[in-house]
Amino acid sequence: MQEMLEFGKRPTPSVRLHVAKFVHRELAIRYAVRIHELQRLPQWCGDIAAFHEVQNIYLESFRKLRHIPAPQDSNGVIELTNLLEDISQRHGVVLKRLAAAVHDLRKKGRISSEAHSNYLECFLDRNMTARIGTLMLTQQHLSLQPGNHQYGWVGNIQLECRPANICHTAAFYARELCEKEYGWAPEVQVHGDTDAQLAYFPAYIHYVMGELLKNAVRATMERNPKDPPPVEVEIGGGDTEVGVCVRDHGGGIPRELQEKVWQYSFTSVKQDDRLQNVLYEQDRPLLAGLGFGLPLSRLYARYFGGDIQLNSLVNRGTSAYYQMNRLGEVSEAIPEYYLRKVPLKHDWKDE
Ligand SMILES: Nc1ncnc2c1ncn2[C@@H]1O[C@H](COP(=O)(O)OP(=O)(O)O)[C@@H](O)[C@H]1O
Ligand SMILES: [Mg+2]
Repeated sequence: MQEMLEFGKRPTPSVRLHVAKFVHRELAIRYAVRIHELQRLPQWCGDIAAFHEVQNIYLESFRKLRHIPAPQDSNGVIELTNLLEDISQRHGVVLKRLAAAVHDLRKKGRISSEAHSNYLECFLDRNMTARIGTLMLTQQHLSLQPGNHQYGWVGNIQLECRPANICHTAAFYARELCEKEYGWAPEVQVHGDTDAQLAYFPAYIHYVMGELLKNAVRATMERNPKDPPPVEVEIGGGDTEVGVCVRDHGGGIPRELQEKVWQYSFTSVKQDDRLQNVLYEQDRPLLAGLGFGLPLSRLYARYFGGDIQLNSLVNRGTSAYYQMNRLGEVSEAIPEYYLRKVPLKHDWKDE
């Protein structure tokens, strides 16, 4: 992270060329690893069309990357930039396709066993973590190009990023989705150390806050649709970290579900045909239903050295705590999947 900050501060042509060469080589390797993992998915995932679609998306990107030579001058950098713009656009659909794959598996009853469910959790953790890495490389390259460079930013890192501002934007977004669903939305109040700022990736804070707030407003509306109490966001700014707490009066999460809510595709939204349709539309945001919000938010938080915890008070509500480390204070945390032994080579059979 520190290296990214150092490099990005001076986007001269030679820095751009150096980064482009690295990105060109590194992305191809990382896509190849992901293709290999998808090809090695166990038999019980073999007939899921969405997995094949994702594999084809990566295959096309890999081939296109290998098709152009490593950049040697500014023309090479431009060629890579054009390709990466195309790749970012095509990869926009990957998350929803993976969510569709998991929903398909669930519908077919393939993840009812603990072994299958663990396998899938590990696969998705790995895939999503790898995705953050490739997205960062891609976006870092794109934002270093002339015309994309903005004052106060180094690539996608905003040097004086203020979580309170992002909370307001995320609240607007979550309330808008809530209004579409319920016709009304609870107020969201932001208080505490609203001046706190840090060098960070605003896009990830926006994602995490959007997910936590969507969950909070949804739970609030489900419990109290006529007179929804406000959702409170409190910010704490310290020397090494900034924390955000989202508090709702949505009735809390029952104890027996408190572990499950961290599983990919776990949701309390009734699965109907409407959701199936949405899974095929790239740009349509959802208030809830994919079941990826919490696990993915925690993965993002942990990737950058922070974390998310949920605390529930039965019959009252939930508090979600989100910690962000100041970049440069820590190196990237080791993702959980490295610590979990994944039986990759195991020959999985349908049960
Ligand atoms: N603040 C909350 N209050 C009550 N239940 C919650 C809250 N946040 C999450 N949950 C439960 O956790 C589930 C999973 O959340 P999430 O991963 O965001 O997926 P989704 O919102 O798509 O269902 C939700 O469906 C809901 O049952
Ligand atoms: Mg959610």
